[in-house]
Amino acid sequence: MLTINTFTPLTPLHHPLFEEAKVKVWMKRDDLTHPEIQGNKWRKLRPHLDLLKQKEYHGIVTFGGAYSNHIAATAAAGHHFGFPTIGYIRGDELAQRPEKWSHTLQQAQAHGMQLKFIDRQTYRQRHDESFLKKLQQQHPHWLILPEGGSNPLAVTGMTEVMTQLEEQCLDWTHLYTAVGTGASFAGLIRANEANKAHAEKSTNPPEISQNPQSCCQIHGIAVLNEAEYLLPQIENWIGQPTKQTTWQLHTNGACGGYGKTTAELLETQQRFEQAFQIPLDPIYTAKMVHAFLQHLKAQQIPANSRVILYHSGGLQGRRKTHALITE
Ligand SMILES: Cc1ncc(COP(=O)(O)O)c(C=O)c1O
Repeated sequence: MLTINTFTPLTPLHHPLFEEAKVKVWMKRDDLTHPEIQGNKWRKLRPHLDLLKQKEYHGIVTFGGAYSNHIAATAAAGHHFGFPTIGYIRGDELAQRPEKWSHTLQQAQAHGMQLKFIDRQTYRQRHDESFLKKLQQQHPHWLILPEGGSNPLAVTGMTEVMTQLEEQCLDWTHLYTAVGTGASFAGLIRANEANKAHAEKSTNPPEISQNPQSCCQIHGIAVLNEAEYLLPQIENWIGQPTKQTTWQLHTNGACGGYGKTTAELLETQQRFEQAFQIPLDPIYTAKMVHAFLQHLKAQQIPANSRVILYHSGGLQGRRKTHALITE
């Protein structure tokens, strides 16, 4: 029987560094939703699964690279929930070389995903309207999900995380999350804005609020270089004007770019894992933790802050660590 732990724990992290800085830190363990359908991947997929349940679609067609967490999670969801999946994978050179396939691809295939390898030039068209129209004609009645599973419906899936956090730690002040496409970050911001609006409406007079939300900040750590280009899309996904003080996209935490690492980042990951016995992935969550620690060191987080680090899963990506070190 498939069990998804939709309500994940908020684990306190105790460390002399945090005590010294007089901050309290927790990790939201969304990596514990399911061993294969983890974290933001589960949250972003979940609203789409409702559509499949209602038989609106036959299965899911989606895109990704050879190490994509989204490909891994979609294939696993198809396997466990019983719907077919097709993955368009970047790199046609892999088509005839299964011995070169990553663990992600091997596992996706084992879960019944039909893998279709496409050359890099064609892959670049994945957002083009005409390309998607043709693809839909090839796969009528299939739900086409963009790379990373990121679309407006996926954004709404993150509301569940914020609802849980409001229950688990009402007075948090800082929330850190890794940013790839920005959909998860936008979803958290959107849900936070909705909570604030609700709290303001239901509190009379408005200044007596249970939750001093005015100081809540959501920090997105971009894991790819020059990520400023994500901002219009993120704002679009948030879907309403927000105060610039309530969230920030950090574009200097990518440690060399997407899928890249540094000795310092690897050391941070190792130390964190040793100290807290919580595994991180090298592509997303390690960079998020690294950026938080740097902000703490630079005294950018005031005393008495209550910080939540969002563990967005992606642990299947740990198998890439070796490749990263030897690249
Ligand atoms: C483990 C993990 N964390 C964070 C992200 C970033 O999510 P998003 O693309 O919604 O910004 C991803 C990629 O989707 C991911 O796989």
